[in-house]
Parts: sequence; structure tokens; C-alpha cells
Amino acid sequence: MKVYRFLKNLNIIYKETNVKIEELKNELKKYLQQERYAHSISVMEVSEKLAEHYKIDKERIMKTALMHDLAKEMSISELKEYVLKNNIYVSEIEMVTGVTLHAKVAADICKKKYEFDDEMCNAISAHTTGKANMSLFEKIIFIADKIDYTREYEGVEELRELAFSNINEAVIRNIENTTIRNIKNGRPILEESIKTRNYILINEKK
Ligand SMILES: [Fe+2]
Ligand SMILES: [Fe+2]
Repeated sequence: MKVYRFLKNLNIIYKETNVKIEELKNELKKYLQQERYAHSISVMEVSEKLAEHYKIDKERIMKTALMHDLAKEMSISELKEYVLKNNIYVSEIEMVTGVTLHAKVAADICKKKYEFDDEMCNAISAHTTGKANMSLFEKIIFIADKIDYTREYEGVEELRELAFSNINEAVIRNIENTTIRNIKNGRPILEESIKTRNYILINEKK
């Protein structure tokens, strides 16, 4: 039987996914090779800890984290075809760079196949760049993806600590580092990441 969740403030009723984490793990194994599967499990574990720390519902965030890279091993041409066939909005720069397409496609698959709710899908859709006005849930998915235990890069330990002490600072720090790296490497800057940083700086930074 479906469970329906009622959001009082937004006046929206949506179906709550009944799928179990173990079922999702089995599904994910069909799509991802070992290394990326291990990353997904690790993002799920970090999300669980962050959800515990920030006192939000663990099960939904764990399912979301687990499935965030579901479409990561589709080719760029497959992703573009999926985006066009399913009328998913992506900006011109996203279509050119291709780096966020796996996030948009995974969100669409999770909505249609596993009945993930809007916040879960939005968090998956925004996990690469972030977006303006992210919920705490969305921020956790965004940052857990950047600090999971399989990641090894300069500054990751500091970012891990920051994610627990000040998640807004952690999101900003990650975007700044990624932006600097993209500039150094002559790569485009995705405007969504700039909007994410601006929104936090103007509205949320303490
Ligand atoms: Fe990703
Ligand atoms: Fe990821």
C-alpha cells in the first residue's frame, strides 16, 4: 500500500517511496561498476552521519545518496538522448559540458522507477553543482558526495570536519575550490554553482 505524505506549507501531496534500501542496492549494482558502487555506498554512509548530526530523517537521505550517481556510467550521447526524449530542462552550457547530465537523468529515473519524492529528486538533480536555496537535505547530499571516504584530495579532511560544524561554509568552500580548479584548467564555470554560492553568501551565511 502506498503511503502519502502531506506537506502542510506547500499544500502538496505526494507518494512516498516504499522501495527498501536493500532493493535499491541490488538495482544500483546493475548500473554501476564496483568502484562507483563503493563511492555510492560511501556517500550513503556519510549522508547517514550528517542526517543524524543535523537531526533529519535518515532513510530518505540514505536512499537519495545511494542512487545519486545511478546514471553516471551512461555515455554522454545516451544521456543527451535521454534528456531530449524526456523533456528534462538543462541549460545550454550543461548540454555542452555534459558534467551535470548524469544527475538530471538519475533524478528522472528515480522519480519514475522508484517513486522518489520531489526533495529526493531535486537533491539528486543538484548534486553536482548545487542550486540556489537548497534545503538542508539537498546540502547534505551535495557535500556528502564531495567528502565520502573514497575521496582523497588536498583539503578533504578539513572539508569533512566543516561539513559537520558549518555545512554552508563547507558548500561554499567546495564550490570555490572547484571554481578555481576549473579556471586553472580553462574549463567553463557552471552558473548553478555560482548561484549556489551567491545564495548562501547573501541569505544564509552566519
Ligand atoms: Fe555525480
Ligand atoms: Fe557521486
